[in-house]
Amino acid sequence: MLKKTREILSKLSLRQKAAILTGKDCWSTLEIEEVGLPSVKMSDSPNGIRMPGCDTDVIPSACALASSFSVDTARRAGELLGSEFKNAGLDLILGPAMNLKRSPLCGRNFEYYSEDPHLSGEMAAAFVLGAQEHVGCCVKHFAMNNQETRRMSVDSVADERTMHEMYLSPFRTVVEKASPVSMMSSYNKINGVYASENKDLLVDILRKEWGFKGFVLSDWGAVNDIVASVRARMDLEMPSNPADSEKLVCAVESGELAMRQLDRACADLIDSVLRLCAMRRKKSRVYTLAERKALLCELAADCAVLLKNDGIFPVPKNKKIGVFGFFAKEPLLQGGGSAHVEHEMPVSPLDELKHIYNDVFYCETFGENGKSADFEESLRAADTCDVCLLFCGLPAAYESEGYDRASLALPSEQIEAIEAIAKINPNVAVLLMSGSAVDVSWRDRVKGIFECYMMGSGVGSAVAKLVSGEKSPSGRLAETFPADLRHCSAAPYFGNRGNTAYYGEGIFVGYRYYTAKGIRPAYPFGYGLGYTKFAYEGLEIIGGEKEISISVTLKNTGARDGAEVVQLYASCNDEEIARPVRELKLFDKVFLRAGEMRRLQYSLPLERLKNYDVSQHSFRLYGGKYRFAFCSDCETEIIGGELDVEGDPLHYDRNSIVGELLRTAEGRRIVDEELKPYLCLAIMGTFNADVRIENGKAIGNPMFDNVMRNMPLRALYDLTGGKFTEEMMLRLINKLGRRN
Ligand code: BGC
Repeated sequence: MLKKTREILSKLSLRQKAAILTGKDCWSTLEIEEVGLPSVKMSDSPNGIRMPGCDTDVIPSACALASSFSVDTARRAGELLGSEFKNAGLDLILGPAMNLKRSPLCGRNFEYYSEDPHLSGEMAAAFVLGAQEHVGCCVKHFAMNNQETRRMSVDSVADERTMHEMYLSPFRTVVEKASPVSMMSSYNKINGVYASENKDLLVDILRKEWGFKGFVLSDWGAVNDIVASVRARMDLEMPSNPADSEKLVCAVESGELAMRQLDRACADLIDSVLRLCAMRRKKSRVYTLAERKALLCELAADCAVLLKNDGIFPVPKNKKIGVFGFFAKEPLLQGGGSAHVEHEMPVSPLDELKHIYNDVFYCETFGENGKSADFEESLRAADTCDVCLLFCGLPAAYESEGYDRASLALPSEQIEAIEAIAKINPNVAVLLMSGSAVDVSWRDRVKGIFECYMMGSGVGSAVAKLVSGEKSPSGRLAETFPADLRHCSAAPYFGNRGNTAYYGEGIFVGYRYYTAKGIRPAYPFGYGLGYTKFAYEGLEIIGGEKEISISVTLKNTGARDGAEVVQLYASCNDEEIARPVRELKLFDKVFLRAGEMRRLQYSLPLERLKNYDVSQHSFRLYGGKYRFAFCSDCETEIIGGELDVEGDPLHYDRNSIVGELLRTAEGRRIVDEELKPYLCLAIMGTFNADVRIENGKAIGNPMFDNVMRNMPLRALYDLTGGKFTEEMMLRLINKLGRRN
């Protein structure tokens, strides 16, 4: 607690304390002037300022930023937004939103980064670091808010490992790397307890384990019981609710809530308000209009993913271009709900294409509500063009806070247009605008596909530069594009399944599932093309005490400048824990001129290889042979190598099996030298047959070795008639290292 906070707290009455914990209005905290406590102002959203009358730039939505696979892009986007918030007199951004994309149908996926926890955490951390150069960030929605259906009451039920490895770890990354000023507790319950009342989550995990120093505020209307919330260190109810403030006063007076608990929440809040005020006073960068424009265009161009290119892109500047579809004129910039901001329509892709190409023909063809009057005319016009660019995507109302999508399909008139135009003209490409994966089962009909996502105000010039080849595309999919929605691991559980969202797929979310099952999606996680080619060589992997050093030489072997997304995945042969085929552990974006070569040097912390061990309720490094591979997507290895990694010491209890002992040299010695007679007795007694144990293997009958390996230590006592005594077992466990 800051000294100033202590002073303020000592001067506040019970009623004032209760009042500050329930806010001033919809968007600010309560000031108490006589004790020197100021008010701070907050606003949505992570992609622009959501304030009536405030004309704002739209920065790329998280779905787009994540596809850049560039922490630098995320940081610069955060910095720009932070400066705009500061100029508008605001102190706290209600963002970034960073829930994991469990299903492509989640209505808010456009606001979220990825299906991969490492990518989500790193991108969000970079965004926060950038934004907090100017104002504070409130990272949301903590936690396990992965669907919109029944979002205010649904109970997200997941096992402990899944929660920690998949859904909590991105938040942990942000807290540890970027110290956000605030976290927003989500609407939903987690395993039966509302997130805003969840002491395990808000105290034990967030503060004690991760060291979070800021304050927690509730999502708007997420408080179920204010007393339980304050007890769990949920420090600010939003929007303001004077009736709950009264409840807090009564709870303290009746002894239901200890004054110390109220004080602790007040201290969290006051500390953070003071931190935000210090940020307000700090001088920070102001962007000129020209700088903003250029940056928005650069950010947007960094995000688009080229999914298919049968020689259609880049389109030479002397071609006659047919542009079809309403999004070419009014590009999709954002989804619905609290992320939606008022903005001026930026220069459209159509207008920017007209600056580059002399001969551009436009038909609306389809709008947000179906076919346009010129639909038939479009088909005739398509015949006269060298190249047809169809701007397709999801109408704004398809993706929003508050509801989930019902399917992945594009509107039927768009499919009809793609098919009809492709029949007339073989040179057709589709530019998609959406906030999440869409069905692309029409992909064989066209020669090129760009997924542009929601690129923000820079969309027009970015699209024109990418199409014409002024810039080489360098985005990669931060989510799988399924070939069939039923292949998605969450499909059987997702959506309206009563008040329970059962996370039955466990850790096998997104590509972790597709690769494990050998199901080929339409486009895999990490996939994306460019206009140049890269080669990797000279891989070197060196183990270290705390990190692994990995180096490789990257060469741009093509004829154009461009950026490569370097993706390093790890896999492991260890069988002690169920694992995906490979997992993303490191990524980088490297720009190289045509023909340029660079030695890249990475250090991968061993910490990042840890898995969650439910028997110990903590992360642990499982030892084994690890494979580290640079891949072009989650399915395709380019170059890889192996390294033996020593795991954290194993711990044992009476139910540990002999196979676990055999994993270490000391355990193998104990089996051969100390346990041998008892193991033989236990096996012989059960099977009435001769058995020998040599070098940790039981010999005599092919089944014996398996029986022995799977035998828990306590069975030695049970199956030797007590000759292997309880005392011997306890001594052995102590010697090996006891499990807590
Ligand atoms: C959303 C939050 C948002 C808040 C305030 C809620 O409905 O879930 O993300 O920050 O409203 O607008």
